[in-house]
Amino acid sequence: MLSTALTNALQTQIGYEFSASQTYLGMAAYFHAQNLDGWAKFFERQSAEEREHALKIFHYLLETGSPAKLPIIPEAPVEYRSALETVEKSLEQEQKVSQAFKDMAAIALKEGDYTGFGFLQWFIEEQVEEEATFERLIALVKSGINLFQAEALLPQ
Ligand SMILES: [Fe+2]
Ligand SMILES: [Fe+2]
Repeated sequence: MLSTALTNALQTQIGYEFSASQTYLGMAAYFHAQNLDGWAKFFERQSAEEREHALKIFHYLLETGSPAKLPIIPEAPVEYRSALETVEKSLEQEQKVSQAFKDMAAIALKEGDYTGFGFLQWFIEEQVEEEATFERLIALVKSGINLFQAEALLPQ
């Protein structure tokens, strides 16, 4: 059984992951509307990844006999001012998530919950990659490259 503090934080995180999934789907819609299908597909893949993260936490709660909770997901925008805005917002979102997992790891250590601490490490490592992806995409967009040409350079 997980500590109450860690259980609460993980339940909240499920909401953040689903919310991120929805945000990325909104970005996919934004790019699709401009016929930038490669960008739309990239954000759809990101959306699917975030859903997997939510499920990973969901299953962990079930496996540890902790109550699962499915928070309300806020509406996500489908319109943005520019491609740059989408990748900058994405990086901001990923940075918040990274901080949330570090805070949870601190809770786990404080409570002496080493199993929970171990579980969180996967996410902390994953976040390094997520942040790096969007930092590269910000640089790509800022390079002034044509967005259609940039599609060939998007992570698969
Ligand atoms: Fe995530
Ligand atoms: Fe992410």
